[in-house]
Amino acid sequence: MSHRSITQLFDLTGKTAVVTGGSMGIGYGIVKRLAEAGATVIIADVDEAEGNRKVAELAKLQRQTFFVKTDVSSEADVVALIRATLGRTARLDIFVSNAGIYPQTPVLEMDVALWDKIQAVNLRGMFLCNREAARSMVAVGSGVIINIASVDSVHPSMVGLAAYDASKHGVWGFTKNLALEVAKQGVRVNAIAPGGITTEGVERTMGAANLRENIKTFEERIPLGRFGEPDDIATVALFLASDASAYMTGELVVVDGGVLLS
Ligand SMILES: NC(=O)c1ccc[n+]([C@@H]2O[C@H](COP(=O)([O-])OP(=O)(O)OC[C@H]3O[C@@H](n4cnc5c(N)ncnc54)[C@H](O)[C@@H]3O)[C@@H](O)[C@H]2O)c1
Repeated sequence: MSHRSITQLFDLTGKTAVVTGGSMGIGYGIVKRLAEAGATVIIADVDEAEGNRKVAELAKLQRQTFFVKTDVSSEADVVALIRATLGRTARLDIFVSNAGIYPQTPVLEMDVALWDKIQAVNLRGMFLCNREAARSMVAVGSGVIINIASVDSVHPSMVGLAAYDASKHGVWGFTKNLALEVAKQGVRVNAIAPGGITTEGVERTMGAANLRENIKTFEERIPLGRFGEPDDIATVALFLASDASAYMTGELVVVDGGVLLS
C-alpha cells in the first residue's frame, strides 16, 4: 500500500455512509463525525421528526445528510433503505448498524412479546442491515460494516438485561462469522462495544429525574472515572470506517472507560 498522510487516511470525501438509529444518541454522534470527515450520511431511523431536525442542524454546518424512515426489524424497510441510498448517491461505502433498544425487565417477569421485540430490533435488524449492506458492497468489492454491540456482548453490566445481553452476544458472534464470509470480497466487518454512554435512551431507562445520581453510582465502577459520551464512540467508528483500520476485520473494539477491567 502506498504511503498516505493521516489526513488522507481519515478523509471520507465522496463516500456514502448509512447510520441506523442515527436520529439521536450514539448514532447521531457517529453521523456527525462521518459527515465531518466528508461522507454523505443517510440517517435511517424510526423517529422521522428528530431525524429531519438533525439533517437541518447539520445542513447549517454544510454537512451532507439525508433522512430515510426505516424500521430495521422490517425486511422491506431495510431493502428500501439500501435502494434509496444507491438511488441518491449510487454507492454505499460504510454501514453502521447502531439502532438498538435496551428495556430493563427481569426474565421472570418477561413476556414473549418483549423478548421477541428486543431480538427483532437488536439481532434480526442487525442481520437484515448487514445482509443488504454486504450484498451491495460485495458486488463492488469493497465496503465497511460497523456493528454497535455492547460491553454486554461479553459480560453483563446489570441485572434485568438478559434478553438484551442475548441479542448483543448474538451481534458479536454474527459479526465475526460475517467478517470471515466476506473478507475475500473486500468487505470489512467490525463491532464496537460501548460501556455506559449518556444518550436519550439511557436517560429514558434511568429516568431523567435521577439521571445524575444514577450516573454517579455507575461512575464509581469506571476506572477512567466518567460516563462516556456519544463522541467517545463516534471517533472510534470513524477510525473503523476509515482506511486507518484497513487491516482490521472481525474485531470487537471495547470503548468503556476500562469498566470490563473492574
Ligand atoms: N448508551 C449506552 O450506554 C450504550 C451502551 C452499550 C451499547 N449501546 C448500544 O448503542 C446503540 C444506540 O444506543 P443509544 O443509547 O444511542 O440509544 P437511543 O435510544 O438514545 O437512540 C437509539 C436510536 O435508535 C432508533 N431506533 C430504535 N428502534 C429502531 C428501529 N426498530 N429501527 C430504526 N431505528 C430505531 C431510535 O429512534 C433512536 O433514534 C444501541 O444498539 C445500544 O444497544 C448503548
